[in-house]
Amino acid sequence: MPSSLPPPGSPVLRITGVNHYFGTGETRTQVLFNNTLEVMPGELVIMSGPSGSGKTTILTLIGGLRKLQEGQIEVWDGDRGDYRKLLGTPEPELVHVRRLIGFIFQRHNLFDSLTAMQNIRMAQRLRDNERDPDADARELLQYLILGDLDIQGKPQKVRFYHKPAQLSGGQRQRVAVARALVNRPKLVLADEPTAALDANTGLAVVTLLQNLARTRSDEELAKLVRPDEEAGEAARLAPWQIPLLRSLARETGTTSLIVTHDARIMNLADRIVHMERGRIESNVVVAERIFVRDGLRQSAAFAAILPDEQQKIADELLIGVHPDLPVRPDQVAAHPGRVEVYEPGQDIVKVGDPVNEHSKFYLIRRGTVEVWRAPEGGALRKVAELGPGRYFGEVALLMDKPRNATVRAIDRVEVYTVDRLEFDRYKTTSRPFINRILENFSTKGEVPG
Ligand SMILES: Nc1ncnc2c1ncn2[C@@H]1O[C@H](COP(=O)(O)OP(=O)(O)OP(=O)(O)O)[C@@H](O)[C@H]1O
Ligand SMILES: [Mg+2]
Repeated sequence: MPSSLPPPGSPVLRITGVNHYFGTGETRTQVLFNNTLEVMPGELVIMSGPSGSGKTTILTLIGGLRKLQEGQIEVWDGDRGDYRKLLGTPEPELVHVRRLIGFIFQRHNLFDSLTAMQNIRMAQRLRDNERDPDADARELLQYLILGDLDIQGKPQKVRFYHKPAQLSGGQRQRVAVARALVNRPKLVLADEPTAALDANTGLAVVTLLQNLARTRSDEELAKLVRPDEEAGEAARLAPWQIPLLRSLARETGTTSLIVTHDARIMNLADRIVHMERGRIESNVVVAERIFVRDGLRQSAAFAAILPDEQQKIADELLIGVHPDLPVRPDQVAAHPGRVEVYEPGQDIVKVGDPVNEHSKFYLIRRGTVEVWRAPEGGALRKVAELGPGRYFGEVALLMDKPRNATVRAIDRVEVYTVDRLEFDRYKTTSRPFINRILENFSTKGEVPG
């Protein structure tokens, strides 16, 4: 029985070393340069970047709408229980790849001779579940405010039976969204899906994508429903949309890759990928960014630095892997000096180890360590256990003294590391603050270092 999800820790989409060229001969120009990216199941990925940076090109390559020239793109096929590789795939097989994907593109390619409803019904494939296809199509259009209720819950003209020419640009865009999602594809590629939409309909689209990824709580959704007077400029959902949303997004795990400049959508992103001149310049897992910044902040050396500066330091440690997921060796190798992995029972620092240029500051990413100390030269005894988000190794670096504790991995432990040189840079900035903290350390001596 093939699994609809890739093996644990594996991406649904893997892009490796992708280059792309337009034109031939003298006019041949390279527009994509060595792009590598992994997208995990259920992630909402936002892709940003200036006009002409290659966002649409990369999206069309992933979708198998354009021939891949160099590099590899792999898309997980849940029905087959394996990846589909795009390089050199003949056209008939690309059809299978396209079937895995829901496209929401700027040119929406609706059939002009068909009504909104017919456009959706003809895209619909038989699925072996209890969903009634006609009811599902109606719910989608209704939720996207093309049915008989407007955002205020007042009656409006139903748009189900209009042809594209009789619809506004934004209405056509929403029909295209409904069509892309009606088969509940596991991967959605969307190029500026809200560009033609007002704030409220834009929010409806993005909230749907978000809930197809994973179920949001009633509280989270309640925040999006506010009366007109309160909403002001902010977008909102209507109360009548919530039950429809719940019904539409019964199955979750959809991954979305969305090109947008819309700052409101960025706030929902799990991963933010930024392109510049044909290259992925940054690839940030939002949860990891917050995890590392908050972890560093607890330490005296970082606490006194301005928030902007803290974030910059945190960003230098990121490896683009959600802190809930274990790192793979190739991910560690791809970001030298950022993350180390220890086996159960292994010592990470040892009491008495001298401080030198190899000494580090550690932030625990996953796993648990035990801290052993020998107060006043007595025997070592276990004084603490520290888990994810906690740090150690600071005191020795701050005071230029040998390690005051042994820190040992209990299970498999992953740590972010800041090396001595880096650390000294922050130390200088925070000196006065640190001095005050140090007085505490020397008198109490509770923090493992
Ligand atoms: N069919 C084509 N033939 C030749 N050059 C092309 C073609 N399509 C795109 N390009 C060029 O490739 C580069 C990347 O274009 P792409 O459409 O991917 O950018 P984009 O990031 O989507 O921009 P925008 O934000 O404006 O949509 C641009 O320099 C563009 O001029
Ligand atoms: Mg584009």
